[in-house]
Amino acid sequence: MKKRDFLKTSAALASTTLMPSSLLASIAGSKTRLRTAHIGVGAMGAQDLQSIASHNSVDVVALCDVDSKSLEAAHLIYPDAKIFKDYRVMLKNMSSDFDAVIVSTPDHTHAPASIMAMEMNKPVYCQKPLTHFVSEAREMKKLAEQKNLVTQMGIQVHSFYDYKLATVLIQSGIIGKVHTVRAWTDRNFGYDGPVPEGKDPIPDSLDWNLWLGTSPKRSYKETFYHPGIWRKLVDYGCGTLGDMGIHIFDTPYNALALDVPLTIKNKCRKPNGYGYPESNRVTYTFPGTKYTADTLKWIWSDGPGSPLDKKYLELPNEDKLPLQGAMFIGEKGRLLLPHFMERPRHIVDGEYKEIDVKKYDPKNDLGERLTDYGLASPKHYHQFVDACLGKDKVSAPFSYASRLTETILLGVVAGRFPNKTLNWDGANARFKEDEANQYLFGSYRNF
Ligand SMILES: NC(=O)c1ccc[n+]([C@@H]2O[C@H](COP(=O)([O-])OP(=O)(O)OC[C@H]3O[C@@H](n4cnc5c(N)ncnc54)[C@H](O)[C@@H]3O)[C@@H](O)[C@H]2O)c1
Repeated sequence: MKKRDFLKTSAALASTTLMPSSLLASIAGSKTRLRTAHIGVGAMGAQDLQSIASHNSVDVVALCDVDSKSLEAAHLIYPDAKIFKDYRVMLKNMSSDFDAVIVSTPDHTHAPASIMAMEMNKPVYCQKPLTHFVSEAREMKKLAEQKNLVTQMGIQVHSFYDYKLATVLIQSGIIGKVHTVRAWTDRNFGYDGPVPEGKDPIPDSLDWNLWLGTSPKRSYKETFYHPGIWRKLVDYGCGTLGDMGIHIFDTPYNALALDVPLTIKNKCRKPNGYGYPESNRVTYTFPGTKYTADTLKWIWSDGPGSPLDKKYLELPNEDKLPLQGAMFIGEKGRLLLPHFMERPRHIVDGEYKEIDVKKYDPKNDLGERLTDYGLASPKHYHQFVDACLGKDKVSAPFSYASRLTETILLGVVAGRFPNKTLNWDGANARFKEDEANQYLFGSYRNF
């Protein structure tokens, strides 16, 4: 099934009347409580559910999961919620009984589920990366804008103190114009083993067809797909870039007010069509902004032992580089941002410099620095709830999240062409190298 047809079917199933954005905005302003419907409630979905529900104006009214074990566990905590295994049935049957949707499924289901909810004029909180394909990210941005919907991508770190501080420091010019960003993780969400043969019995708790959703039909194999392992595989996840990369890219990308890149080159092993590379080194060039030199060079490294090349990454006192993080390199020094929940460090001439936070944040706009993940993390979720209730603004709406996701996915696509520089025409959403354009879209299976 073509993506367009899937969207049409979803819209028909939705069967709600489209409302003008002015009316939607006035509804948001008049609500005092938010009724939420959750798609995917195991693992991260369980955390998302708990964080959203910890807002005292939220009522959890619907839960959906294709694995009855996760569904039952969530239902024990929210026994008043209605339960479903098919998000299409939940959205269709309950559309007038919930106000917002939270999507916490594997990546390949983010866009199909979110787009169906947005077609019904529902605000959406969707986990990162926003989508599996570039075309879907553009579609979600367009829909959110057309319908004037409150949206937020699940990059909770975006609302943490240290990341907001790094943004203020960079935008205040602490290291002058930035010419290079280096970002890295030692994590590896790749796989170069054999494609599994045969099939295993599908667990009684799992609806495998619904798990596959719009992605290609494949036999169930234990330890290959569900839960969690899908992120290493081309048909369902986005590899290490989509998993850790998007968190680590977020602050430099946001702080430097970047748009999508001009060129992308991924140095990695040959593609095998099934699992992502175990190690990527992606070099991007971006057009300059007011916080950067005329162009910006961005080097991402992932996989065990990364980053191998330490250019710009030597630390004072021979300190060890954090296992994950980013370094901004500017005309007047460097700023290190470890991932995560650690303070940014200012480095000039091989020495750490104290950061006088009051000088950069005189009105204490950044608020309190929370060092406990359990306390800091709900902020991003509560911001979404408050924005739905007309009391706050989101900080990672789909207008932003789609560009960041596109940048990540372009690095993923470049992994299909190891060591080749791809030229990206952002205005027309096309590569100059036509052979790469086929990977910007997916065809949706009818399920
Ligand atoms: N923001 C973060 O810090 C963070 C951390 C971990 C994961 N994530 C993101 O959260 C999402 C889920 O990751 P995970 O590690 O929890 O994966 P997982 O496979 O462990 O869990 C996914 C859950 O969704 C359910 N599910 C799968 N397909 C479904 C469908 N079509 N409809 C309803 N339920 C469905 C599964 O049964 C399972 O309960 C991913 O997008 C991932 O990138 C974000």
